[in-house]
Amino acid sequence: MKNVVILISGTGSNMAAIVRTAQQQNWATRLGARVAAVISNRPGAGGLRTAADAGIATAVVDHKAYPSREAFDAALMQAIDAHDPAGQPALVVLAGFMRILTPDFVAHYEGRLINIHPSLLPAFPGLHTHQRALDEGCKLAGVTVHRVTAELDHGQILAQAAVPVLPGDTADTLAARVLTQEHLIYPRAVAQLLQEPIC
Ligand code: GRF
Repeated sequence: MKNVVILISGTGSNMAAIVRTAQQQNWATRLGARVAAVISNRPGAGGLRTAADAGIATAVVDHKAYPSREAFDAALMQAIDAHDPAGQPALVVLAGFMRILTPDFVAHYEGRLINIHPSLLPAFPGLHTHQRALDEGCKLAGVTVHRVTAELDHGQILAQAAVPVLPGDTADTLAARVLTQEHLIYPRAVAQLLQEPIC
């Protein structure tokens, strides 16, 4: 069985969309894959409850409990790899995971680590993407699923979806419009990767 581990920091709506799709599309039989665990760096992340309610193993690796980024990432790697008998899951999926990862972490999961970013990369890496798109007068905004490299919000683009920026949009209304697309393209991109040989 190919194991997928999802990392979250908050609500986890993208994680929930992946879990829902995995169930609806019967990934276990069709792809020989399952969401094995959801891990949060924040003990209070709402997504932990959602995952537990769906019968998925959850864990917390609280970044505040570690003296350095390196120590946190080492503990996180251990927690992730514990969810695969072979010692490393097929795919590690960042879904609203709000921590910058060390090059060692990224190298450890090379080819198996993906992220979703709420902009049409390479535009607007980093934070506050929707406000920045509004400030620039963008007519289109969107979302990108990409492979993770040591450089923040870079890496090969795997999927994108665009939405219109409408008159009167605020960062919140635009974020909500983009989020509906996130929930469609992320499960699709994960399913596609699970069919590739590296996984
Ligand atoms: C999403 O917009 C995602 O693209 C960004 O953070 C938000 C997380 O939402 N990285 P959720 O936790 O998946 O609901």
